[in-house]
Amino acid sequence: MSATNTSSGNANKILRSQEWFGTRDLEGFLHRAGLKSQGWPEESFSGRPVIGIANSWSEATHCNAHLRDLAEHVKRGIIRGGGFPLEFPTISLGEFFLSPTSMLCRNLMAMDVEEMIRGLPIDGVVLLAGCDKTTPAALMGAASADLPAIMVTGGPQLKGNWRGEELGSCTDCRRYWSELRAGTITQSDYDSMEGAIYRSPGHCMVMGTASTMAALCEALGMTLSGGASIPGADARRSALAEEAGARAVQLARDGVRPSQIMTEAAFDNAIRTLLAMGGSTNALIHLTAIAGRAGITLPLERFDDLSRTTPTVLNLKPSGKYLMEDLFYAGGVPAVLKRIEDLLDLSCLTVSGKTLGEEIAGAACYNDDVVLPRDKPLTTEGGLAVLKGSLAPDGAVIKQSAASPKLMKHRGRAVVFESPIDLKNRIDDPDLDVTADDILVMKNAGPVGGPGMPEAGFLPLPRKLLQQGVRDMIRISDARMSGTAFGTIVLHVAPEAAVGGPLALVENGDMIDIDVDARRLDLLVDESELARRRNVESGAVGDSAAWHGGPSAARERGYRKLYLDHVMQAPAGCDFDFLLGNTPVETHVEVAKHSAGHHTG
Ligand code: FES
Repeated sequence: MSATNTSSGNANKILRSQEWFGTRDLEGFLHRAGLKSQGWPEESFSGRPVIGIANSWSEATHCNAHLRDLAEHVKRGIIRGGGFPLEFPTISLGEFFLSPTSMLCRNLMAMDVEEMIRGLPIDGVVLLAGCDKTTPAALMGAASADLPAIMVTGGPQLKGNWRGEELGSCTDCRRYWSELRAGTITQSDYDSMEGAIYRSPGHCMVMGTASTMAALCEALGMTLSGGASIPGADARRSALAEEAGARAVQLARDGVRPSQIMTEAAFDNAIRTLLAMGGSTNALIHLTAIAGRAGITLPLERFDDLSRTTPTVLNLKPSGKYLMEDLFYAGGVPAVLKRIEDLLDLSCLTVSGKTLGEEIAGAACYNDDVVLPRDKPLTTEGGLAVLKGSLAPDGAVIKQSAASPKLMKHRGRAVVFESPIDLKNRIDDPDLDVTADDILVMKNAGPVGGPGMPEAGFLPLPRKLLQQGVRDMIRISDARMSGTAFGTIVLHVAPEAAVGGPLALVENGDMIDIDVDARRLDLLVDESELARRRNVESGAVGDSAAWHGGPSAARERGYRKLYLDHVMQAPAGCDFDFLLGNTPVETHVEVAKHSAGHHTG
């Protein structure tokens, strides 16, 4: 087998892995010996494209706990395609176990993935991810290294089933948590739900962040068509992983880079798909960050502009009623893309080598109640709306598809909590002065204030209101929210309170105006009064970077210092300012350079 590439741009060049394995000198000796020590004869890897498998398997990331097995199927495909697999671990970020929030480490994982791709002797990479942050982090790293890459996600869990009721993680854990607090179910009822919802490998199976990001990988063209919705427990996911492995070999041979696939048009396709699915609000942040690595700016206005002309056609929780397994049986993401194909740029290239249009040409929908017809959408606009105004000069986000229609235009009195801890301590206080018409406001849970912008934006309703039958009210914060959550919830308020955004100045009793149709979010307090409050606040702490005495880089060390020094606000994707853009790795090298042998072990 020849390691020389046959595609026109790389004719007479050799794959970059040959810099490690192709030289008959000390360096080549050591590199080959490193594989032989693991039992691989030279015939197994000599002259073959080396395909890395960046595996975010971890027992501490339950959604990714099956990726070690899935990697074996990727390896079969790589070998079948004529390549050589080289699996390596990345850090892994689990929503359940990682404290204070997995988002704090998303950029760390992206740096890990980028540097491993850059530094290892590989010609292409298969990215194995699943849980919320692992998929965007892997894509961000791959976009910056820009070596041929293909994504394989872990697939959704099977539908939960509890006493005959289908349940979705974790939309229904949250719904029943409210019922428990309202006193309509017992603790024992609630406990018995734990194993009934989480009953199989994979990520949360509502249209939460993990499902959203997996689907957006399809819309972007970075995963094989149909791959997002195959359940983690379905044999067809193993087959998909094998196909991806084989395909990665060809991508490496051809030197097809992520930057040729994740173009500006592909990001528009992804935004349309996000909106049509009623996908997670977190995707705004992650897509913006991934695009930033590809040198593409996605302003919040772009999401909002496309939202006004994109109907929500997917009837999945938390916006609708079905689960990812139902979407798989209904035709998967291709059925969704087919529904909105007139809104997509079908000429975009995908990792399969075909265009998006070619991929969905034969797509069919097998259940019109799961993927709704265009003339019967869940909502006529996209699932997300971007609000701006005096309370959020740089923008805020609401998932209108999962909100209460009657609250989309509302004026209410602010009931303020200074932080997630303050909220936890007081929300169930029987003496809390709150009614269903008020607006709950929480500060200091943004990118800096959290730190890490935790998913604290799904503010629990006060117990006394729950007991009165209230199940939704307006909630506003600079936090994120789990993609599995629901309600009339305004998130990502920017600038955040911890850097002195207007949110920091809101006091109990202030009036707030929200008008989703007009895309407005306003604090109805005079400028002079806000200026007075600002003087008091900044005078009190004497350091605007440490507003309210929140996290400060000066008091941190290590990764947290790096994070606080460089994290950008939500509209910029919460990436680090110095990670924007890419520095492409050479996919192929000149023979002369190859003989220089740069890579000593
Ligand atoms: Fe991993 Fe929900 S906890 S996707």
